[in-house]
Amino acid sequence: MSGFSVEVARAQFPSLSIKDEGKSRIYLDNPAGTQVPQRVIDRACQAMISQNANLGGAFITSRLAQELVDQTRIAAAQFYNAPSPSEIMFGANMTTMTLAMSRNLQKSLKISKDDEIVLSRMDHDANVAPWLHVASDTGATVKWLDFDPDTFEFADDALDKVLTERTKIVALGHASNCTGTINDVSAICRKARAAGAVTFVDAVQSAPHIPIDVQAIGCDFLVSSAYKWFGPHQGVMYGRRALLETLYSYNVRPALEYGPPAAFESGTAARETLAATLGAIEYIASHGEDQNHGVQVSRMRIVSGMNALQEHEMTLTRQLIGGLTSIKGVKVRGITSANAMHRRVPTVSITVEGKNPADLAEAFAKDNIFLWSGHNYALEPINRMNLMDKGGVLRIGLAHYNTVDEVETVLERLEGLA
Ligand SMILES: Cc1ncc(COP(=O)(O)O)c(C=O)c1O
Repeated sequence: MSGFSVEVARAQFPSLSIKDEGKSRIYLDNPAGTQVPQRVIDRACQAMISQNANLGGAFITSRLAQELVDQTRIAAAQFYNAPSPSEIMFGANMTTMTLAMSRNLQKSLKISKDDEIVLSRMDHDANVAPWLHVASDTGATVKWLDFDPDTFEFADDALDKVLTERTKIVALGHASNCTGTINDVSAICRKARAAGAVTFVDAVQSAPHIPIDVQAIGCDFLVSSAYKWFGPHQGVMYGRRALLETLYSYNVRPALEYGPPAAFESGTAARETLAATLGAIEYIASHGEDQNHGVQVSRMRIVSGMNALQEHEMTLTRQLIGGLTSIKGVKVRGITSANAMHRRVPTVSITVEGKNPADLAEAFAKDNIFLWSGHNYALEPINRMNLMDKGGVLRIGLAHYNTVDEVETVLERLEGLA
């Protein structure tokens, strides 16, 4: 049993206590971006006051800025369990980083019309469209990893049906921002790499909820965005060092001289968001334990912290899904079985018979309950479930700072609307 207390966690997030015309805010828009604790804000402010210089200078602010970049890279490596901080790259966000790396891979792997790219019908467009551009530029064939729209999971042999010796890239989401399914990315990466393909994992929706371990997954690339895990708008990418060393990078010449990871980072990194990213990792670690008590951030503390947050989320997910499945007319577009909750994240998409998702989101907004509706950039899954012309889904996305009372409120309100 962890010592996690939702009240103690909530007290650290200034935005959670804001009221509008006397009404509390219920943040259930978390899959699109989470709120930030005070330590993240403090880290960003501190960087702008005392670490605000470019790198490589002899003066104190430049040296402190370098220390900050190094410290954040080390913490991010621990967050992903990357073997080395030199395998961590920073960029604007997941989409920008994926578009850039897809260009580099297209050129480096010499992708041509004889090659194949495997994409997933369950993914956010940020891990689909960059590879569609590669296919359209090169004439490579796209093959789709299809999921079962009744179980919301891939069949065990889904990859076997599409993987060949000509597959150059396999791009796959760790957890879906639509169905919430957690995919068995390690099994898929193992098979794909054995076939000689480069594996590219989108961890944007898994990183806020479960510990990420790139070594256990065995991928070549993995990317997420810190604003989904209580941090700032900052993309964080892992790339396997041995592969990075062989890749071409579309970048300016001075950056290329440094080699990886700097060769894959363009322009001057925002100090304030790097500092705030460090703050977010420190926040997650602050919920965990390490036998070595003096250490503020360690892999052990991050995993233990994440497990503590997950335990509370699991209680809320059971309550939410249990409630949703008992409301007449509501259909959960994702895994609902109580003993399969570990195979999903608490991103829960629903449809309500006879109701437009956008109208429902608007009705909730009037009560200061924040929900997203539509396709949420998950074009493939929404199309696969034939929901595009029905307005997509209404998405209820939990984070560890949500409460049992908030879930109760949203369920009551939905029952009224349905
Ligand atoms: C699963 C998934 N992948 C990628 C993205 C894109 O992330 P970013 O905004 O950092 O580009 C999102 C954003 O919602 C997402 O949910």
